[in-house]
Amino acid sequence: MKTKLEAVRADITKLAVDAIVNAANTTLLGGGGVDGAIHRAAGPELLAECRTLGGCATGDAKITRGYRLPAKFVIHTVGPVWHGGERGEPERLASCYRRSLELGLAHGVKTIAFPAVSCGAYGYPLAQAARIAVGECASFAAAHPGIERIVFALFGEDALAAYEAELARLAAERGGAARPD
Ligand code: AR6
Repeated sequence: MKTKLEAVRADITKLAVDAIVNAANTTLLGGGGVDGAIHRAAGPELLAECRTLGGCATGDAKITRGYRLPAKFVIHTVGPVWHGGERGEPERLASCYRRSLELGLAHGVKTIAFPAVSCGAYGYPLAQAARIAVGECASFAAAHPGIERIVFALFGEDALAAYEAELARLAAERGGAARPD
């Protein structure tokens, strides 16, 4: 079955998907932004489980239960801090998406929602981040059947527009590739 990729304007903590992804920091002990919202909505048991994980490297991901969230799992990933793009930021951001999907797949996740990792406190430019997010998820989905739906849950109108532009570009590329000439 082909994986569906979609962008929606939503508070990720409200989504009834198998897993939501958290844009965390290397301590995994909570923070502001989407991280704070996820911990508030999940309840204190989430922090208790996070304390057992020993942190997480930038570009990697770790999984916990979702506790009071509608989602069964939270996949905590750590995006790169934007320093201008020459310090491995694109590779690390791509790795966040790939590692999160690998972990989800290993836990039987069929529907997963991502926030715009690194696009808040970590300062990654939205258009560049959206291109990496959509591109990496699309290539992962093409290579690994099993995930039915990947949702990009975006807070602002500008973020939604950036992701919609990338999804449209992907659809046009695929349409082009399918034509004989
Ligand atoms: N649902 C969906 N998206 C959200 C939500 C929400 N409830 N809340 C915020 N966003 P950020 P980062 C968007 O700063 O840049 C934390 O303190 C937000 O508008 O949450 O990866 C961590 O502990 C933005 O587009 O994550 C780290 O220290 C996007 O989520 C650091 O911030 C990501 O913004 C990580 O920074």
